[in-house]
Amino acid sequence: MVREVKKIAVVPGDGIGREVISEGLKVLKKLEPNLSAEFCLLDLDLGADAYLRTHEAMPDSVWKEILGADAIYLGAVGDPRVPPGILEREVLLRIRFDLDLYINLRPCEMYAGAFTPLKHKSASDIRFTVVRENTESVYTGVGGVFKKGTAEEVAIQEDVNTRKGVERAVRYAYELCAARAGKRELTLVDKANVLTYAHQLWRRVFSEVGQEYPQIKQSALYVDACAMDFVRRPERFDVIVTNNIFGDILTDLGAVISGGLGLSASANLRPLAPEKTVSRCWGMFEPVHGSAPDIAGKGLANPLAAILALKMLLEAMNEKSAAQKIEQAVAKVTAGGKIFKPESTDTSISTSAIGDLVVSSL
Ligand code: NAI
Ligand code: MG
Repeated sequence: MVREVKKIAVVPGDGIGREVISEGLKVLKKLEPNLSAEFCLLDLDLGADAYLRTHEAMPDSVWKEILGADAIYLGAVGDPRVPPGILEREVLLRIRFDLDLYINLRPCEMYAGAFTPLKHKSASDIRFTVVRENTESVYTGVGGVFKKGTAEEVAIQEDVNTRKGVERAVRYAYELCAARAGKRELTLVDKANVLTYAHQLWRRVFSEVGQEYPQIKQSALYVDACAMDFVRRPERFDVIVTNNIFGDILTDLGAVISGGLGLSASANLRPLAPEKTVSRCWGMFEPVHGSAPDIAGKGLANPLAAILALKMLLEAMNEKSAAQKIEQAVAKVTAGGKIFKPESTDTSISTSAIGDLVVSSL
């Protein structure tokens, strides 16, 4: 039988991004014979080295390859040799915004044996997912400065919230909550008591769309109270929906309580009606962590986050059984207790040794 070909744009990027993606690809190679599609990998040269060589963060030729791919598998970008913001804006934000990947899905689901700094909590208490709106809020760059560098400087950066943007994020969160085997509880996280224009819009949309989902328990929570409850009682959460900046900040905390940055993966998606937009590429899958220059090149990075990002990619590509195999293999590895504190510089087990453990557990 001839298998359908799926093109995956691989962007190892910078620092530990390169190290962890090569472990993910080891895992993919092992699973490849049993996938229903044939995965064709396009190795894309983006990141600091390419930028310093060509002075272009995203050459047109690379962008064309991205547009023609089915999905992107990204390590991380960011390097001390490049002024902050260039690679992040021209690679990461360009992909998110120009491909309209309006959902950033960030599971905070602890694996048994992983490390949580919460004293009385364990894997059964930390099983929630955050749906972060990914294309609006303060990330749009709307605003400006006036009298820059003077004592009268004024800096304004607007929090952009559109009816369309809010509604599609909220609707996706309801759909996800209805489909997943959780408690069927959706929590809207906002600051509607202070951001009365912007976040009252979220509240209205949340309750209007919510009428279509009577089977889901619905509640709203202020972001400060939410941060507190991530630590105090994470077991109360099932699915959370929130705006771009709150989602960004909360999911670092979510990562730390559920096993550390070394275990946190994310998907950037355009899930509803993907056919209606310019490009065929509707997903980018990446670890939550960055390029970690402090440990780059030392073999200290935990590749499990990148391997779990591959799991999310396979799920999105309808390769459910392969995704499940990765999930089980990672569970086996963390349960083995060999990786105590994934984000710490625990030198007892190297990046590639962890990758090998996953491959042999598949
Ligand atoms: P970071 O996530 O790279 O590192 C934070 C801390 O966690 C560091 O101490 C690092 O050693 C540790 N760490 C991160 N991932 C780890 C792993 N897999 N295993 C073991 N330890 C790990 O965040 P930081 O330091 O704020 O940013 C470094 C660079 O990465 C910056 O240029 C930043 O802009 C960029 N960045 C890129 C992202 C992306 O491409 N998606 C996301 C976040 C940051
Ligand atoms: Mg962040």
